[in-house]
Formats: sequence, C-alpha cells, structure tokens
Amino acid sequence: MPSARSAEFLVRTVTGLERLTAAELTEAGHRVVDVTKRQLVVEAAGPVETRLADDQFTIRASVPDPGHTRTALGRAVAELTRHLAPEPRLSVTASFTGARNFSRYDIEDAVGARLGAPYFSRRHGTPPPPGTTDVRVALDGKVMWLGVRPHAVPLHRRAWRRATVVGSLHPPVAAAMARLADLRPGHVVLDPCCGAGTLLIEARLREPGASYHGRDVDPKAIEAARLNEPAIDWRTEERNPDRILANPPWGVRLPATARFSRGWPEAERLVAVLGEGQRLDRRWRTVEEHPLTVAGRHVRMIVALIGK
Ligand SMILES: C[S@@+](CC[C@H](N)C(=O)[O-])C[C@H]1O[C@@H](n2cnc3c(N)ncnc32)[C@H](O)[C@@H]1O
Repeated sequence: MPSARSAEFLVRTVTGLERLTAAELTEAGHRVVDVTKRQLVVEAAGPVETRLADDQFTIRASVPDPGHTRTALGRAVAELTRHLAPEPRLSVTASFTGARNFSRYDIEDAVGARLGAPYFSRRHGTPPPPGTTDVRVALDGKVMWLGVRPHAVPLHRRAWRRATVVGSLHPPVAAAMARLADLRPGHVVLDPCCGAGTLLIEARLREPGASYHGRDVDPKAIEAARLNEPAIDWRTEERNPDRILANPPWGVRLPATARFSRGWPEAERLVAVLGEGQRLDRRWRTVEEHPLTVAGRHVRMIVALIGK
C-alpha cells in the first residue's frame, strides 16, 4: 500500500477531548484542518507526537461519504481502494457518524475483501493476530477516510503501564488533565485517590520538574503504582500541594450532602474528572468544564480554584 498522502493524518480521540487535542497539535506546529466527533484531520509539519490522542493513522485515500445505502457503500469502497495495493495480514476498524443501513463490520469486510491478503475480520469477535497492518476507515458525514496506523500499537497504550487496577484512568484523559493543571517546575502535585498511578505518571511526563505524591486506601493500588513508576512518592502524606489531580471512583453515588473532596487539602488549582452526581465541596469554584464520554460513561472534566 504505497503512501499517497504521507503528511496527512487522521487523529482519533476521546469524545469531548477533540478541542484540547487540536490545541495540543496546533501548539506543536501542525495544521488541524477538520474536527468532527472523536476525529481530527491533521496536516503534519513533522512527526506527530500527541499524548491526548487515542490513535493516529496516515491517510492513504479518501472519497466523499457515500451516505446510508449499502449499494453506495460498495461503490465508495471500490473507489477508495482503487489505487491501493493488497496488504499481507490486514485488519480493519471502521466507524461512522449518523444512521446507516450498514454496520461497521460491513465496511470493514468490504475494505478487507479488496485489500487483505489475508484479511482478519473482527465480525465474530476474534481479535486479529499480532503483526497485522491496521487500517482505519472513518465516515464522518462529509468524507470516507482510509488510514494506516504507522505504529505497532494504538497511541493510548502506554509503554510505562505494567499494572492496572479497577478504575485505572484512560491515559489520554490523564494527559488532558495534566495539560489543564498548568503544572510548573517546583510544584507539589497530589492525587488523593491515585489507583495505579496513571494521572501522576502522565503529569510527570508533561512536567518532570514538579514533585508528585499519590495516596490510595487500597494497598494493591499502591503496589501497582510503584510497579508502573518507582520514582514517584506513592502513599505519602502530602505537603501543601499546589495542584490536585483526581478522579474518584465514578460509580460511587454519595448522599446529596456528602462530598468526597472534603478530606482533601487545599491547592491553588484542582483538575478532576467527576462521575454523574459527584460534586466538589464548597471550597472549590469551578472555572472550566469539559463533558467527556469515557468507556461508555458520561463524565465531566473540571478545573476548579479555591475560594470565591
Ligand atoms: C478511579 S480510581 C483512580 C484512578 C487513578 N487516579 C489513575 O490515575 O488511574 C479510584 C481510586 O480511588 C481509591 N479510593 C476510593 N476511596 C478512597 C479514599 N477514601 N481515599 C483514597 N483513595 C480512595 C480506590 O482504591 C481507587 O484506586
């Protein structure tokens, strides 16, 4: 499959992180040419490095979005793949916006049938074997894109992650929280319910000059966090933090008057992802809010400052 448009990328992200991901890429000198749900089209100024994106694909072909019928889909797939050579060991993941008379598997199998030699379908739930070329097809309402992942694994899969616990945060969301925290060298940063450490590890990658402290009621979480990053001070009493980064367990519903943040110290700035019905105590004033959909849950990423 020769590279026809190697400087253009499809960047996939979490629902609700599109604008922050666009800002990250623009600051790095790339041109974001389109933003739709969960997707950015980017003209790259060089290698694309992003911690907020879920994944990235080099664009190889595009045709107008065929709309909702199967017949139009068949024609569009033929056109989309017309100049692409078959690929040994191919897997395809497809997504679309809006209502269609076909499923994602119909798109995947149509593209796989034309390009795969062989093609590993996901239709029956069997994951493709390691070492396939991973193709992404996305219909965004305007364009049908075909891209190829330039890395062996999706971007959201972090090399540092050796252990997880229930509720471990999706790393790109942690990276987005670190971005909103305005971290500076010398800051003391606390995660009061650190789990396996995702938030502080991603924050430290963004600002290595701060000091990081994580605590958790569960000793297994601390064990997992130590395995992921031995250099962070896990399970310590914090000094007065400058920043708090937190995502309490989203599934926990508290009585209307209870606030899990009451036991936390004060800090100049707090960034949290809160589940449905979760609120901060009255010391905090929310100044920014981003609705996100993560693992099928509708949550809010908020930035809060202390005081009125
Ligand atoms: C959603 S996970 C946090 C994930 C973590 N921030 C990360 O970066 O992956 C929530 C964590 O809060 C911990 N937890 C629950 N109640 C707590 C409490 N009262 N004090 C400290 N930690 C608590 C749980 O053990 C769990 O590990």
